[in-house]
Amino acid sequence: METSRRSFLLTAGASVLAAESALDAQSEKPIRLAMIGTGHRAWAHLAILKSLPTFQVVALADPTPEFLDRAVGMAPGAKTYSDYKKLLAERKDIDAVVVCTPNFLHAEPTIAAFERGLAVLCEKPMATKVEDANRMIEASRKAGKLLYIGFQKRLVPITAKMQQLTAAGEIGKIQMVSGNLFRGDWNPNSWKYTDPKTGVSTNWRYLTFTEGSALLEDGVHEIDCMNWMINDRVARVTAMGGNNVYKNRETADHISAIIEYASGVKLSFELCLFGANSGVHSRRMVLIGSDGVMYPENGKIAVRSSKRGGEARYVEVQDNTPKSVVGKEVGSAQDNETYKQYLLFAESLRANKPPLVGPESAKDTIKIILLAEKSFRERRVLNWNDLPA
Ligand SMILES: NC(=O)c1ccc[n+]([C@@H]2O[C@H](COP(=O)([O-])OP(=O)(O)OC[C@H]3O[C@@H](n4cnc5c(N)ncnc54)[C@H](O)[C@@H]3O)[C@@H](O)[C@H]2O)c1
Repeated sequence: METSRRSFLLTAGASVLAAESALDAQSEKPIRLAMIGTGHRAWAHLAILKSLPTFQVVALADPTPEFLDRAVGMAPGAKTYSDYKKLLAERKDIDAVVVCTPNFLHAEPTIAAFERGLAVLCEKPMATKVEDANRMIEASRKAGKLLYIGFQKRLVPITAKMQQLTAAGEIGKIQMVSGNLFRGDWNPNSWKYTDPKTGVSTNWRYLTFTEGSALLEDGVHEIDCMNWMINDRVARVTAMGGNNVYKNRETADHISAIIEYASGVKLSFELCLFGANSGVHSRRMVLIGSDGVMYPENGKIAVRSSKRGGEARYVEVQDNTPKSVVGKEVGSAQDNETYKQYLLFAESLRANKPPLVGPESAKDTIKIILLAEKSFRERRVLNWNDLPA
C-alpha cells in the first residue's frame, strides 16, 4: 500500500518536471478554445496562448466591454460574446473552454460547457461552495470530459521537486508544515459586482458571496501544494481572522489557520493582505519530517537530514520554460507555470490522461479553506464532516 502510494507520488512529481517535453506541439491540429471571463487573469492566459501553437482561441465571452476589448486584442480573430450562454449555444467548433470568471461564477459556465460535451480548464479556486464543486464533478463525469483545475503553482520547479523529495522520504514522514503569504491588497481594478437589489457595485474580492473567502482567493495555491505533499486525510480545522486594516469590506484582511490531519500532522498557514513589504518573509514553506527539515532557500531546496547531523544538502532545480516564452509577454515566474499548465492540459486532452490537479483534490483544498473561514466566523474548531462530503 505504502509502496504504491509512494510510486504514484513520484510519478506525479516526475510528470510535472517533464511538462516541457510532454508535447509535440506541431504534430496535430490546434485545440480550439473558448474563454469565459476575460479579465486580468485571462489576459495572462492569452499572452501565454500566443506562444503555444497547440491552442487556438476562437471565442471570448464577457459582459464587460473594456475587459473583452483588451482580450480580443490579444486573440486576433476570436469572436466576442457578451453572454457565455450564447457562445456555448452558437459555437460548434470548440474543443475546450477556459473559465476565468470571478470565483462564484466558476460552477455555472463549467457545468454548461460539460452539457455541451466540452472539456474545461477552470481557474482556481474550483468553487465557493462544496456543493458547487460536487455539481461540477458530476457534470464532468456525466459528459465524460476532462475537468482540469488551474493550480499552476504545483508546477513551480522548487515546489514540484519538494513534492518529489518528500514523497521519496527524504525527511521521513512529514509531521509539521508551516507556511505563509504576506502580500498587498487585492487589485482595485477587479471587476465590480452590482447588487441587483441596491444597485451598489463592489470589487468582487470584497464580498463573501462573490469571492468565497480571502484565503480561497490567495493562499489557496500554497495550501493546495502543502496538502499535496502531506497527502493525508484532514481531520479538523481551526482558524482566526478578521479585518484589522481594511475594515470596509466583508472578506478578511488576515487569517491564521491550523489544519490537523488524521495521522496527527499539523499544517499552519497565515495570509495577510497588508503585508506588501515583507521581503524575504513574504512567502514561506517549511516542511518538518520525522527525519529532517526541508525548505526553499535562495532558489535552491535546503534538505537538512537528522541522519546527517542536520547538515544542509542543497538541491538545485532548473526552470526549463523556453527562453522564447520568458522575457516576452510572459515574464513573471507565475506565468511560466501557467505555460506548463497548458502543456499538461493539452497532454491530458490528447492522451486522455488524468489531470495533474484532479477535481477531487481541488475540492479537498477548497473544503479545507471553507472550513477555516467557517471556523473563524463561528469561533469554533470544525471537523472535516462539518461541511458536505
Ligand atoms: N491561477 C492564478 O494564479 C490566478 C491569478 C489571478 C486570478 N486567478 C483567478 O482567475 C479568476 C478571475 O480573476 P481576475 O483577476 O481575472 O478577475 P477580474 O476582476 O480581473 O476579471 C473577472 C472577469 O470576469 C468577467 N465576468 C463577470 N461576470 C461574468 C459572466 N457572467 N460571464 C463571463 N464573464 C464574467 C468580468 O467582466 C471580468 O472581465 C478568479 O477565479 C481568480 O481567482 C487565478
